[in-house]
Amino acid sequence: MDRVFSIAIDGPAGAGKSTMARRAAAELGFVYVDTGAIYRTVGYAALKRGILPEDTEKIDELLPQIRVKLAWKDGVQHMYLDGADVSKKIRLPEVSSMASKVSAIPSVRAFLLDTQRIAAKTNNVIMDGRDIGTVVLPDADVKIYLTASAEVRAKRRFLELQEQGRSDPYEEVLKDMIERDYRDMHRAVAPLKQADDAVLLDTSELSLDESIEAILRIIRERLAL
Ligand code: DC
Repeated sequence: MDRVFSIAIDGPAGAGKSTMARRAAAELGFVYVDTGAIYRTVGYAALKRGILPEDTEKIDELLPQIRVKLAWKDGVQHMYLDGADVSKKIRLPEVSSMASKVSAIPSVRAFLLDTQRIAAKTNNVIMDGRDIGTVVLPDADVKIYLTASAEVRAKRRFLELQEQGRSDPYEEVLKDMIERDYRDMHRAVAPLKQADDAVLLDTSELSLDESIEAILRIIRERLAL
């Protein structure tokens, strides 16, 4: 089989990873893998059963009881929990917070590792998350650490929520983002950090189009496309 390429994009919440990874994947003909959605699905499963994220024993017990699958429909990734498509439900803010909490539990990370690696085995992928370049795909051909200031990221998320008809105050969105950053960066297992060999891209001062251009430039340079 021909060699497949993998591109890892890591960074904090709201840095625009998914938008840019999706656009870059479409441009390059790669498959986009959203790993946050996989953690969100486990978070959603726990939330649905009323399990508190602090109750790691209950979360450990939950894992062998659930089936988490990802599949692509018309190029769009869908998440399935026990056979049901939960792609929309996992986007609720309460699931964001739960996903960030359960993703700090080592058994959850171990449970989802193979799912992520299998996706990259047979496809050219752009995979985004927190630990893709450091843990999931340490040999990725291109690694990008995508970030922006907390204020810029919160503003983007705030506008996104407004578009969805929600009226969460900006201060709350910012507070939630800072808390999530802290948790994602300070957990004991696979914390969010820039891989030694990742290219840093800060989009605080860039428009969406400029950011996508910058990402494509980095990828094309590295892959010599
Ligand atoms: O990218 P996102 O906001 O959809 O991710 C939701 C949560 O999942 C995030 O707060 C941290 C966790 N996550 C992770 O720990 N590792 C990944 N590779 C992706 C997401």
